[in-house]
Amino acid sequence: MIIAANLKTNLTRSATRSYMQELEKFADASSSADVLVFPAMTSLDSFQTKSITIGAQNAYPTQNGAFTGETGLEQLDEFGIKTILIGHSERRHILGESQELLAQKFHYFKEKGFKIVFCVGEPKEIREASKQEMLTYIKKQYEGIDSEYENLIVAYEPVWAIGTGLTPTLEDIEDMHAELKKISSAPLLYGGSVKVNNAKDVLSVKNVDGILVGSAALNAGDFGRMIEYADELNKIK
Ligand code: 13P
Repeated sequence: MIIAANLKTNLTRSATRSYMQELEKFADASSSADVLVFPAMTSLDSFQTKSITIGAQNAYPTQNGAFTGETGLEQLDEFGIKTILIGHSERRHILGESQELLAQKFHYFKEKGFKIVFCVGEPKEIREASKQEMLTYIKKQYEGIDSEYENLIVAYEPVWAIGTGLTPTLEDIEDMHAELKKISSAPLLYGGSVKVNNAKDVLSVKNVDGILVGSAALNAGDFGRMIEYADELNKIK
């Protein structure tokens, strides 16, 4: 199972270092969780950890160059980073990233052999419209993306569930994940208001191969508990 933390624009460099130290105990002890952490860009570092994979929340599809405010491959290479998050709804909706730019990023980092966590998910009005509209909307988010890329992980994150405390029902998650598995056989994570008190239930749902956690992952102990759930479920199965 993949247990991933998106720290977004939270924690300083020194706070991230302490966070990683605390988290490492859980990751080291886990026999079945692949633990991924996406720190804030200024907190990227060469962390001395074997059991946690560090990824970039974003990067520009370039080695280096004149792209003010962006991060290129050269800057990721310095820290040995080979994992990237692409298509997060905050980048699509707040930063205005187009499907075309996401596809360019996907292509570039695929060529470089990166593990890509690619996010898809519908806003509230689309969810409320109909299942068909939801599927049409989400299918468009795969345009220009190689859905069978060997290093792909897909994250289904309904926009209305992110940071709101709202989640789809477990039946809805199961239904949506079954649909998304038809588009791509890649490991499929659920994200959006996953907390300590619902993580185990979500992880138990069919076709949920892991979770992508935002706010609840900011506490290393809470996120560590979710790593433990992966092991507990593995023992039950
Ligand atoms: P929350 O867990 O805060 O809802 O955020 C989810 C998310 O956006 C992870 O990428």
